[in-house]
Amino acid sequence: MSFPSRRPRRLRQSPAVRRLVAQTSINPHQLILPAFVREGATENIAISSMPGVVQHSRDSLKAEAARAAEAGLGGIMLFGVPATRDAVGSGATDPEGILNLAITDVKAEVGDELLVMGDVCLDEFTDHGHCGVLAADGSVDNDATLAIYAEMAVAQARAGADVLGPSGMMDGQVGVIRAALDQAGFQDTLVMAYSAKYASAFYGPFREAVDSQLVGDRRTYQMDPANRREAVLEVELDLEEGADMVMVKPAMAYMDILADVAAISPVPVAAYQISGEFAMIEAAAANGWIDRKASILESVLGLRRAGADQVLTYWSLEIAQWLKEGT
Ligand code: PBG
Repeated sequence: MSFPSRRPRRLRQSPAVRRLVAQTSINPHQLILPAFVREGATENIAISSMPGVVQHSRDSLKAEAARAAEAGLGGIMLFGVPATRDAVGSGATDPEGILNLAITDVKAEVGDELLVMGDVCLDEFTDHGHCGVLAADGSVDNDATLAIYAEMAVAQARAGADVLGPSGMMDGQVGVIRAALDQAGFQDTLVMAYSAKYASAFYGPFREAVDSQLVGDRRTYQMDPANRREAVLEVELDLEEGADMVMVKPAMAYMDILADVAAISPVPVAAYQISGEFAMIEAAAANGWIDRKASILESVLGLRRAGADQVLTYWSLEIAQWLKEGT
């Protein structure tokens, strides 16, 4: 018998064989496009650290949502950039606040063809940039913030959101939001919980995208990148509190977390490929150091392989286009 008798390369010999045995794929339905809308904007404003991503005007956001529906994406996750901010993030709960108006705009545009998702967090709306309100000593006040999240969630549901994404990492946020939604008659509004969200340096470009006022960091509420086990606790708590889906964020530096969560979660698991991950690949590609399209597809395929059922990515529209072209 000639050596080697076991030849794994047989399964890699041709496109037809590789296609037959490929375990993982990307479907546009599983992609969620994050999008920014800026109050008062009459034209799009470029985000220098996120080439190709913009702060939309309300009209341009509607057009983007229509493209997302047309491309067969699963959803659009909306973030508001208000014109004014205050200590308690009043713009978040105001029915006339930019995010709530944008939710209504987009829902009217896409109807049932695309899920409209809203970010439930105060950081875009506060003048100090934190995800919650501050106590007298300057610390982020968990329980005072919960009451505002409940109000914000109901405002977004009333505006027409299908899915709410609480991303502030306050303890108990999913429970208060679920209770408030149910009480207001929004039993069918879904909660996609940012369950395992880490205090990451890779959020850098997003802070430009939302004109963040933050000085300092979020380490008293977002998770410590050094910790793995804690992600399971955060997921379990969110499930007890009524999360319909859970999320791991960031994605690429946290694929062990994603695999851990996928192994234990009885509900769908999403991964958020965040702004800094986007920026890294765009920057390397712009320098000619990596193949842009191949790198983007590989990065998202890797998240799917690690266990992500859904992926939030700024490349959602482009990926859907490539998949349609069959490349
Ligand atoms: C908080 C929020 C952030 C992101 C999504 N929701 C910023 C943060 O936690 O500092 C980051 C997304 C990205 O970097 O692409 N509202």
